[in-house]
Parts: sequence; C-alpha cells; structure tokens
Amino acid sequence: MKSLMFAVMAVVGLSTAGVAQANEELAKKSGCLSCHAVDTKKMGPSFKDVAKKYKGNAAAEADLVGKLTTAKGHPKVKSSEDDNKALVKWVLAM
Ligand code: HEC
Repeated sequence: MKSLMFAVMAVVGLSTAGVAQANEELAKKSGCLSCHAVDTKKMGPSFKDVAKKYKGNAAAEADLVGKLTTAKGHPKVKSSEDDNKALVKWVLAM
C-alpha cells in the first residue's frame, strides 16, 4: 500500500513538472521571456511579482487573458487566446 502511494506521488510530481516545463517552453516560444522572467524584473514585471499582485483576485485570470489578447494595457503579443489562457494560469499559480 505504501509503495503504491509513493508511485502515485511520483507520477503526480512528474506530470506537474512536465506541465511547468511545457508552459515555460510556450512562454519562450511566444516571446514573453524577452520582456519577462520568472524571478526578476526585465522590461515587464517578474511573473512571480504578477502572481503576488493578483493573489486572491478571482477576476485576475480573465482580466489578464483579455489584456494580452486585445493588447490593451499590455504590449501586443503573438500568442493565441488559448495560449494566453495557459500562460496566465501558469503565471498566476507561481
Ligand atoms: C514587448 C515586451 C513584452 C512582451 C513580449 C510581453 N510582455 Fe507582459 N508585460 C510587459 C510590460 C512592460 C508589462 C507591464 C505593463 C503595465 O503594468 O503597464 C507587462 C505586464 C504583464 C503582466 C501583468 C499585467 C498586469 O496588468 O498586471 C502579465 C500577466 C504579462 N505581462 C504576461 C505576459 C505574457 C504571458 C507574455 C507572452 C505571451 C508577455 N507578457 C509578453 C512587457 C511585455
């Protein structure tokens, strides 16, 4: 029983890391990382700071996806709305 639990935990752990990596890849591909970094401020705020700013704000996800997709209140990005959703979810979960 114990070993089964460890196996399940290992799989869950791996898939979470996999998702984070896929999102980072997407952020790179979408050009986000030329103006942002996870930990440090570049031209834009660090993604960790963004997550801190919107912590507990239930409207943040839709709000930020809207900003990115319509390029209002944010520089124009080339990623699709679906990609923006995945990216904003990733950022807010930091
Ligand atoms: C050309 C540079 C540039 C690119 C490319 C860019 N950003 Fe930004 N981003 C900024 C700047 C500058 C700000 C700060 C804007 C402000 O607060 O007025 C910002 C702010 C943000 C915020 C916080 C907005 C808020 O209202 O608090 C998020 C989230 C964000 N960017 C996500 C992304 C994502 C995801 C991508 C890639 C699809 C991306 N950015 C690409 C420059 C950029």
